[in-house]
Amino acid sequence: MANYPFEGKKLMTPGPVPMPEAVKQSLARYECHHRTPEFAEILERVFVNLKPVFQTKQHCYMLAATGTGGLEAAMVNTLSTQKKSLFINAGKFGERWGKLAKAYGLPFDEIVVPWGEDIPLDKVREKLQAYDYQALGFQACETSTGALLPVRDLAQICQETDTLSVVDGITALGAVSLPMDDWGLDVVVGGSQKAFMLPTGMTFLSLSEKAEQEQSDIPSYYFNLAAEKKANQEGKTRYSTPTHFVIALDIVLDDILNRVGFAEHLKGIAEKAQVFRDNVSLPLFPKTASASLSCLSVPAGLSAVEIKNKVSKKGFIIVAGQDQLQDKVIRVGHMGAMDSEDLIQTAQAIESCL
Ligand SMILES: Cc1ncc(COP(=O)(O)O)c(C=O)c1O
Repeated sequence: MANYPFEGKKLMTPGPVPMPEAVKQSLARYECHHRTPEFAEILERVFVNLKPVFQTKQHCYMLAATGTGGLEAAMVNTLSTQKKSLFINAGKFGERWGKLAKAYGLPFDEIVVPWGEDIPLDKVREKLQAYDYQALGFQACETSTGALLPVRDLAQICQETDTLSVVDGITALGAVSLPMDDWGLDVVVGGSQKAFMLPTGMTFLSLSEKAEQEQSDIPSYYFNLAAEKKANQEGKTRYSTPTHFVIALDIVLDDILNRVGFAEHLKGIAEKAQVFRDNVSLPLFPKTASASLSCLSVPAGLSAVEIKNKVSKKGFIIVAGQDQLQDKVIRVGHMGAMDSEDLIQTAQAIESCL
């Protein structure tokens, strides 16, 4: 096999994340066909076991696409070109709502929040009360800044104004608690390469009853969720199932739900975030940090990109910032198969490069 330069290095990024040994082994081990009763059994179990992660009784969809595909699927199934939506743009991923909406001719307004700042809830409420928006789109965790958004408060404001809450939970679902039904979230989207600890390439989403009933006027073929659900209810996906991912997901969900326990699993991520933060001297960039990752401000005069490169030479792959934060922050993930020792060593490697 070829030697790749990243071999032997510990992946400490906020997605993709390091995969558990059992996932890696299952990816190499199981070859099967998706249209078989044996595989249908696994698929059905995975559909059931996704629900506690979303904390919902609703159907959870699995699509072969990256997280952005999940967001696109959410939009083309619930939004209409006849009604404006409102998006919170508080970072690189917050910007994406507008880009997606433009591609489909969906009218929208944005609340632009300076990167890393808290979301001005009064302003969101004011906007939603002043105009009959169809949906409010926001991240649960804005990965470019490491910020955790006030998902519950935003969902509450949406309920007050009968607005759909569409949540990009790609770096949050499975890492922080997002009780979809309890909080009344209408759409939640996750990504395989984050807290699900799989390779990049699958997205998971769930829609509330209300969101399922929305009639979008946007044409879609692959992302037609009604057709997808019909196939899922027959024990299959509409098109070829990424069987390797689904089997690995079956293993991950069994571990998280049955061996560790979901609450313990979330607690473990929060504890790992704390261990890392206790061992590094750089301050957190966002006002309110998510447990999924630490986004750290780099002191003036130092280059985040250089620090990232030096840390990589020491065996730990981390990332610097994006766009306006490119050389100003470094980011380290807390999801995936990493333990406290990995995080302490990463912190020490960072410290030695300052
Ligand atoms: C919050 C958030 N939204 C959307 C995306 C896009 O996901 P993908 O790159 O899987 O399409 C990411 C990826 O890191 C993300 O962190």
